[in-house]
Amino acid sequence: MDAIRIYGGKCLDGQTKIQGSKNASLPVLAATLLIKGTCEIENCPEISDVYHMLRLLESLGCKVIREGTLVRVNTEQVSECDMPADSVGVMRSSIMLLGALLARVGRVEMDYPGGCVIGARPIDLHLQSLRKMGVTVREREGGFLACVCRLKGAVHKLPFISVGVTENLVLAAVLAEGTTVIEPAAREPEIQTLCGFLKLAGADITGIGSDRLVIRGVSRLEPVSFRIPADRIVAGTYLAACMCAGGRVFLQDAPERHMESVLCFAGQMGAGITCEPDGLMVTCRARPKGCDRLVTGCYPAFPTDLQSPFMAAMSVSDRPGWVEENVFENRFRIVPELMKMGADIAVCRNRAYVGGRSRLRGAVVQAEELRGGAALVAAGLAAQGTTIVTNRHYIDRGYEDITLSLRELGAEIELA
Ligand code: UD1
Repeated sequence: MDAIRIYGGKCLDGQTKIQGSKNASLPVLAATLLIKGTCEIENCPEISDVYHMLRLLESLGCKVIREGTLVRVNTEQVSECDMPADSVGVMRSSIMLLGALLARVGRVEMDYPGGCVIGARPIDLHLQSLRKMGVTVREREGGFLACVCRLKGAVHKLPFISVGVTENLVLAAVLAEGTTVIEPAAREPEIQTLCGFLKLAGADITGIGSDRLVIRGVSRLEPVSFRIPADRIVAGTYLAACMCAGGRVFLQDAPERHMESVLCFAGQMGAGITCEPDGLMVTCRARPKGCDRLVTGCYPAFPTDLQSPFMAAMSVSDRPGWVEENVFENRFRIVPELMKMGADIAVCRNRAYVGGRSRLRGAVVQAEELRGGAALVAAGLAAQGTTIVTNRHYIDRGYEDITLSLRELGAEIELA
């Protein structure tokens, strides 16, 4: 039972509530390590990546209590120890614990982090930047050991923009001695959330939301209660699903403020979008309008995480277009699967030509990573007949219950 069955060809009509953000909750949970006492994190999504992060925190000595989407983390007893290799290996965000643990206990031994197979995803820039803050790193087969007596602030002129590196350096810097500058810093909303959480706890961070973060180290942080915002990528996935199927849906709590490029692109493809006080009303024609070019990039550009769901929508649009992927080199893994469903797509390096068909056909297809898996489910809604998406566990990493949410939106979909 690791699959999803979709009976396609039906317009959507319904509403669903958008879950808390995965990419915001993971660094915030890692950041609790910097705060002695109990932090309360609300609206943490019930997804497997959060489960793994909580397991890692427990393995470090934290006491974790979870009541649905409310998580309490008590970090009084944190000590260095081995983290469970399977949880480190399963998700990229385990690297987030590096900056926080160095600040808290000064020594980290861990395996290289895992995560979706969407490119090389090395951690060279994480390690290189932390070395500038006084950290000694010794790499070993399959992992590394990092040690520091006291983290020191540093001026980081980064060679490229990285979400994870920015987050790790923020975590390392808030309790460090002196001032840290990160430039260019990633500006993703999830980084703004992490900085907002840390500021509430007493951190001194300026430049939030810009590409230059300045962090002055403070001596301690205080426990806080904090609410994770809704997930812009999940909201964008269900928007793309509606574009695939046609129909009218209400996405309650969708964070429209952080979805500008996505809403703009969806609008060009013919989606009618109205921002209401508590969410987004989306109306889509039976077949999306074609669009010339979808180009991914760092925020505020179009997010790479929504490239696959929108490629699914483009594959049933009324004229051809191009997708250009500029963040991860291996994010076209769904192309052969979409082609099994009849899509007309050709890939050349980081570009894909998407022909646009009047309809896809149901098929058995395989999810190979999180967002690609969700995109195949969206494609299944646009297909004639039944689609089975295998490897559901990839999708469970980031979506609380994609079958339930899409059923609420009027889809015929079930676990298989
Ligand atoms: C985060 C998000 C992911 C999103 C991505 C880009 C989380 C948990 N994940 O991933 O969903 O798709 O941002 O918005 O928040 N790189 C290196 N060396 C490094 C670090 C990164 O070469 O040390 C490269 C990566 O291979 C990639 C690029 O930098 O090509 C950007 O990656 P990065 O922004 O770091 O992505 P993540 O933080 O892994």
